[in-house]
Amino acid sequence: MSKKIKHTEEFEPFNIVVFGGEGDLAIRKIYPALLHRELDGQFLTSFNIIAITRKPQSESTFYQDLSKHLLNTAEEDTTEDEINKFVKKITLITTSEATVEAYQNLKIHLDQFKNYQNIFYFSTPSSAFGEIAQTLKACNLIYANSKVVLEKPLGYSLESSNAINAEIMQAFEEKQVYRIDHYLGKETVQNLMVLRFANNLFERAWDYQNIDNIQITVSEKLGVEKRADYYDNSGALLDMVQNHLVQLLCLVAMEPPYILQADEVRNEKLKILRALRPFTKESVLTNTVKGQYSRGSIQGEEVSSYLEDIEKYNSKTETFVAVKAYVDNWRWKDVPFYLRTGKRLKKRYSEIVINFKEVSHNIFPSKEKLNNNKLIIRLQPEERIELIQMTKVPGPGGYRYKPVALKLDYTDSFKERFADAYERLIVDVIRGNQTLFMRQDELEAAWTWIETITSNWKAVNQQNILYEAGTWGPGDAILDQGATWITKSWRD
Ligand code: BG6
Repeated sequence: MSKKIKHTEEFEPFNIVVFGGEGDLAIRKIYPALLHRELDGQFLTSFNIIAITRKPQSESTFYQDLSKHLLNTAEEDTTEDEINKFVKKITLITTSEATVEAYQNLKIHLDQFKNYQNIFYFSTPSSAFGEIAQTLKACNLIYANSKVVLEKPLGYSLESSNAINAEIMQAFEEKQVYRIDHYLGKETVQNLMVLRFANNLFERAWDYQNIDNIQITVSEKLGVEKRADYYDNSGALLDMVQNHLVQLLCLVAMEPPYILQADEVRNEKLKILRALRPFTKESVLTNTVKGQYSRGSIQGEEVSSYLEDIEKYNSKTETFVAVKAYVDNWRWKDVPFYLRTGKRLKKRYSEIVINFKEVSHNIFPSKEKLNNNKLIIRLQPEERIELIQMTKVPGPGGYRYKPVALKLDYTDSFKERFADAYERLIVDVIRGNQTLFMRQDELEAAWTWIETITSNWKAVNQQNILYEAGTWGPGDAILDQGATWITKSWRD
């Protein structure tokens, strides 16, 4: 797909300062996002990029490696010249610590562009956020129009998350803080808002009277890659459910805000987070499953176990989790929300499935089963919406029917290149639109609910079920425990 579609826009000129500027996220997501927006013509404005690295690194290696990566991953029609021009915009500053003295070079650099807005992107472990924020403040680099972008995970518990937040709040105000969850920047996730709130058809049927259950699945083929230390301290529940899956649940379940504005949307999401039914010792046993992958094969390739991947043979960290959740409010009375995610599963795909109730009475003489309607919102790898509905099989021979999909395939219907989630979210930061970013009270409510799982897992000593890499996760093993819901409409 070509990048030649222009979305010009006038912003305040900006400096974007990336802490963790040599890190994986910066290289794979942040710089490519800025490059694409630049090539798309969106930045009519002047801007500077400053990469803050802790490890001393020769400038030439950094620029060469980055250019190589950008060239390999950019659109086909991107030229080397365009990439070199972009990469030259990045100033590399190495500081071994966060002190006023160590930030002198940064200050000198930013002071040359005092009329630009400063955007500080914290792409380091969150344990460093507090001291970076305090040092920026001590250097007088935070102005009223400055912003800070915080990458997840924000701590490992409610307490640690609150402590990090308190440190950030000593330097920034809530209206300057952008807590990023890249799932909210995905094209199909955005479309969920339009699908729900721009179509009368769905909204009318969006409740416990019409919906049987909702399934939110993020299935990954990848293992833990090079993030063993981080992953082993968090596991699937904190890495994926606490943020991405819970945020998707909020968008599916929330009431319509009266207007599409940041705080109105976030108020509605917060109500859902607060209505999530807390887990107990009993319900955590029946309504959650955790698993860890053992050796297996994915598309014919042998892959090692989680313990081999992280080289730590006593780890109890889960790489798969499934949760049956309830939202205790009027609209969602007793409708289960099945949240599932895991690493080293059979296929990479993410989707939200709304399973409607079956019709109340079958009038057809054959009495063949009438499947329920399903609205399938496929987030990745393809971006697509399907409405599964019963249709008559053509021809004589009485009423024969079968489920058929009405399909909207994004790539067929829209020929534009799809912006990566980071592109959209970074542009929202520059614009100053917080709608797709989590507010602190949302984060607290999400942690409060998640801790009813983690504390009860501990209390009942809930064990991981091993699953072979390349399968759909702990399927059969779970049937033995009576939790049959885990395999319900799990796709092959
Ligand atoms: C990240 C998690 O937030 O999301 C990773 O830390 C996970 O473990 C990734 O692989 C999945 O994102 P996506 O966009 O590839 O589905």
